[in-house]
Amino acid sequence: MMGLLDKVRNFQQARDLQKAGLYPYFRVIESAQENLVRIGGREVIMLGSNNYLGLTNHPRVKEAAKLAIDKYGSGCAGSRFLNGTLDIHIELEEKLARLVGKEAAVVFSTGMMVNLGVIYALVGRSDSVIVDRVDHASIIDGCRLAFGTTRKYLHNDMVALDKTLAACDDNGKLIVVDGVFSMHGDIADLPGIVRMAEKHSAVVMVDDAHGIGVLGKQGRGTANHFDLTDKVHLIMGTFSKSLASVGGFIASDAETIHFIQHMARSLIFSASMPPASVAAVSAAVDVMLEEEWRGAALWRNTRIMLERLQEAGFDTGPSQTPIIPAVVGEDVVAFQMCRRLFEEGVFVNSVISPAVEKGNALIRLSLMATHTEDQVHLAMDKMVKVGRELGVIS
Ligand SMILES: Cc1ncc(COP(=O)(O)O)c(C=O)c1O
Repeated sequence: MMGLLDKVRNFQQARDLQKAGLYPYFRVIESAQENLVRIGGREVIMLGSNNYLGLTNHPRVKEAAKLAIDKYGSGCAGSRFLNGTLDIHIELEEKLARLVGKEAAVVFSTGMMVNLGVIYALVGRSDSVIVDRVDHASIIDGCRLAFGTTRKYLHNDMVALDKTLAACDDNGKLIVVDGVFSMHGDIADLPGIVRMAEKHSAVVMVDDAHGIGVLGKQGRGTANHFDLTDKVHLIMGTFSKSLASVGGFIASDAETIHFIQHMARSLIFSASMPPASVAAVSAAVDVMLEEEWRGAALWRNTRIMLERLQEAGFDTGPSQTPIIPAVVGEDVVAFQMCRRLFEEGVFVNSVISPAVEKGNALIRLSLMATHTEDQVHLAMDKMVKVGRELGVIS
């Protein structure tokens, strides 16, 4: 008979990588999350962060966090539902609702908790939730918590979505999709999704974790980018990427937000966002709207990187955004690339199966507005050098 802890004792994968010197996880950073980070006393170019606008170390964002600690202390000691709602939570919710063009919003303590709570709250026993096959894990876990039926469709394939929706019965249908897909950096076919939703009377929710700050006017996100804000009923965002902190939100009409406030278990049964995080997000939104050069610099860097990678012969998949994959093949090659690039002074993330299909492991590169052109070029010189060394490109 298998004991409960046998799986723990038999878990060798990570140890094997550690022994081989290829383990890429839990690397300890000794500095702020910036275009350059310090690891083991050495500065490396950071190409593995979601800090797209480079705001995590912005003086105004940090100052706002410090002032909030002075006024409100370090934590709220309770849930939003009971004792944990501050005036700055409400101000931030109003600001976020305006940002994405919705009537109301509510903030949660992480983006993951938004997806868990919202999908659970909305998808009842007789409803269906329909998701893209490569949607983020937090969406998939939200579906697991909900009592309704989960149906997956082929990635960004509108024919498949049409068929999937047709197979649902007449009860409620919620389509949940990443605005920007987190591993390959492609954008959801939102016009197609909205068309299908109208055809089959479904409600659309966009997870814009990687869209806010990146797409749309002044970084207002994917629905804004397609001018479809009114057709997307729920817009979700996180503060752990462009908005320089931690936490997340859902925006919609006031009625839907009111319902979620009273039904989302991950909101009600967990402590609220601490004051410093709330103030940091609020300042980050202001800076994002005022310093429009950041979006422009992010896209300039994206164009340079994409051109350099494609010129060198890398397969960059369907990327359309500052998330750019370089497909390298087997998992072990991704780990080797990651280590060699680190030795050459570049931090990247390796993405392996099951996050991507077997044999399609990739190096996930992501840019910041604050990378200089020289840093992007230097990092790409290293990508080419290491890619050739390992036979990924010729
Ligand atoms: C698409 C997507 N949704 C949700 C999340 C969860 O956000 P958070 O980091 O705020 O929990 C992430 C972050 O990893 C993400 O990439």
